[in-house]
Amino acid sequence: MKNILVTGGTGYIGSHTTVELIGQGFEVIIIDNLYNSEAEVIDRIHKITGIRPHLEVLDLCNQEKLDAFIKKHKDISAIIHFAAYKAVGESVNEPLKYYRNNLLSLINILGVMKLYGIPNLVFSSSCTVYGQPEKLPVTEDSPLQPATSPYGNTKQIGEVIIKDTTHSNENIKAISLRYFNPIGAHPSSLIGELPRGVPENLVPYLTQTGYGIREELKVFGNDYDTPDGSCIRDYLHVVDLAKAHVVAVKRLIENKNKKNYEVFNLGTGNGVSVLEAIRSFERVSGVKLKYRIVGRRPGDIEKIWADPSFANSELGWKTLSSLDEAMKTAWEWEKVVRSNKL
Ligand code: WQD
Repeated sequence: MKNILVTGGTGYIGSHTTVELIGQGFEVIIIDNLYNSEAEVIDRIHKITGIRPHLEVLDLCNQEKLDAFIKKHKDISAIIHFAAYKAVGESVNEPLKYYRNNLLSLINILGVMKLYGIPNLVFSSSCTVYGQPEKLPVTEDSPLQPATSPYGNTKQIGEVIIKDTTHSNENIKAISLRYFNPIGAHPSSLIGELPRGVPENLVPYLTQTGYGIREELKVFGNDYDTPDGSCIRDYLHVVDLAKAHVVAVKRLIENKNKKNYEVFNLGTGNGVSVLEAIRSFERVSGVKLKYRIVGRRPGDIEKIWADPSFANSELGWKTLSSLDEAMKTAWEWEKVVRSNKL
């Protein structure tokens, strides 16, 4: 049985990935500082899988503590590194907090990989590295644009740090996964996205509005150059996204990677507008959503969706869930969270 270290494993994508890894027979160790998640997520992973992964509450920026922990767990086959701050708006106001946390944690991870001979890394990157692409859908070869937020910049710099490390050290292999917009929750409704405070992202805002926690959803602009005027994104089910991590980790462990450092887009290949997402929500929930068109959100990309064909052919991975299916799980999760049924 292979041991996988999942950093940020109690978070949104990390918890879903842990469930999929356990389902595929991997042993998972989680490191998380619980900055934006709850230790109870471990109980729920246990409920879903019947297995309780070890949770080490540890800040990855603390090199000494990380070092001491890894020293005791030298049999780790791969690390999946999710742990990071991710609020775009906050990163603009507190850039140092973002650069320090997201980059130092990554550097420390790579440091222990080198020191203790851990050969494989899967890194959470983001479609944000493409900015507004000139050509759509966007392939992995599309030029990267200067980041529009410190958060986005930490993903770009993170990719460069990993690339340079794999080039200088042939014993370290890595895959960066550029996620488009993950939504939804596990079908058990035991894990899902739990934003603290007012959500920044569309789908949690939408489901909270549907539940009556928010008065109305503000649609940021309907004067874009898109068929209905609202922005277009590529929304993928978080369980599909989680499965891609298992495939990526296996590719590295089984030495099936073609280069020491590889990058994959993870999306459905379908562009969906904000207004289409609202209609999907209304269809699956039966709730009429209160929304209002307001001005554009500064920094928003007009339209982006993935060309996932490289991930389809090379990883043998593709998304299986439709927008409606993903949206339905987001709604079910919202209801469970709000009715205190967790
Ligand atoms: C989606 C669409 C909004 C809220 C995020 C991260 C980015 C990257 C991708 C991770 C946009 C509109 C939203 C609302 C709205 N992720 N919207 N009303 O903009 O793609 O970015 O995911 O690395 O870094 O920021 O996602 O969910 O915020 O917005 O109209 O209340 O919904 O304008 O068109 P986005 P999002």
